[in-house]
Amino acid sequence: MSEHLTVVYDAAEVVVGPNESESANGALETREDAAIAAIDGDVVTVGDSDAVTREYPRENADTAVDAGGQTVIPGFVDPHTHAVFAGDRSDEFAAKLRGKTYQEILAAGGGILRTVEAVRDASTEELAANLEAQLDLMLSHGTTTAEVKTGYGLDVDTERRLLDAIERAGTNHPVDVVGTFMGAHAVPDGQDTEDYVNEVVYEQLPVAANHPAAEFCDVFCEEGVFSVEQSRRVLEAGREHGLKPKIHAEEFTRLGGAQLAADLEAVSADHLLHADEDDAEALAEAGVVPVLLPGTAFSLGEDYADPEQFRAAGDDRSRSPVALATDLNPNCYSQSMGFAVALACNGMRMAPGDALVGATRDAALALDRDDGTGTLREGTAADVAVVDGPSHVHIPYNFGVNCVDTVLKDGVVVADDGRVVGRE
Ligand code: NIG
Ligand code: FE
Repeated sequence: MSEHLTVVYDAAEVVVGPNESESANGALETREDAAIAAIDGDVVTVGDSDAVTREYPRENADTAVDAGGQTVIPGFVDPHTHAVFAGDRSDEFAAKLRGKTYQEILAAGGGILRTVEAVRDASTEELAANLEAQLDLMLSHGTTTAEVKTGYGLDVDTERRLLDAIERAGTNHPVDVVGTFMGAHAVPDGQDTEDYVNEVVYEQLPVAANHPAAEFCDVFCEEGVFSVEQSRRVLEAGREHGLKPKIHAEEFTRLGGAQLAADLEAVSADHLLHADEDDAEALAEAGVVPVLLPGTAFSLGEDYADPEQFRAAGDDRSRSPVALATDLNPNCYSQSMGFAVALACNGMRMAPGDALVGATRDAALALDRDDGTGTLREGTAADVAVVDGPSHVHIPYNFGVNCVDTVLKDGVVVADDGRVVGRE
């Protein structure tokens, strides 16, 4: 079988990833007037455009992309989404603007619980189709790897159907889909919390852990939802079943989820709006990747997390990873990692390069992938987004538009001009 050659040439800038040399202090490594070549989906070289196209002439390429004047970045990695759901909660959005809080809406049977009703009423085919539509949008906004959580089923059968939908939608989709079981997302209406934790541990988890779509286990550790002790039970049981722990921690209150994540050496701790310096230190020392979700703070009208607090923690001062994600869900309805980067810069004062690393390499670390996902170097997958503008700074600088022009997955064009291509 002949090889598939991919050449993306004449880019004003190619973003390689974080500079790994000690003295660079985590700064972004970029090449100007550059190109990349890939064979059978793997990058073989990144460098000066003329040199690359001399070695790999674009006339010989099966896929040739002219990135003239534009910027080439690793495809975005979105490490925290609740992208498989049904129904619409735009009326709650309006209620929140009138002053209702997220917790008030949830306590009154709305929020997550309303989405649960819609999901239970939907067929698995509908759920898979809904997720596919979300993945299409994510892909056309440059996301090539995405995590997707269950958690709108809250019973054995519906949680399993959500995993089926994740498997079905992910199998043939260009986006690499990483599944997380989150039966402990909310307590079903009328059920006692302890009883429900027992159901998650003894009934849901054994089924979820046997499902090919589940890699992680997550829990909403929050006042009025699951306590630290209940969260510990769920995550420890998940780990016994082979699911790696993640946690929603310190989103509305500082309950202790970050310290729990450190104690369990979870893969990531997410949200962290109310985490303090001690929490940041504990996470960094335990190697837990903090995942910040600026879209959530933005849509809730809350203060943003402080990325510096996490970046500066641990032995690796100033180099600890800080990942970004969309948190795509019916309460925070955005599919765009470019927008998350814009919020991280404009709202959280992150440097554009740091935010981009947060949305690519550090996001991959939050999914336990340290194989080069989220970077473009020899040997990594040719998952690429070509973004408008002469440098990566244009991603947050030109906010509110889809900055992504062309997307390649494994060296093949899968989206162009904001549209998914090559699919029925
Ligand atoms: O990450 N905090 C809990 N879960 C989601 C919200 C889910 C929903 O409201 O439907 C979050 O923000
Ligand atoms: Fe979430």
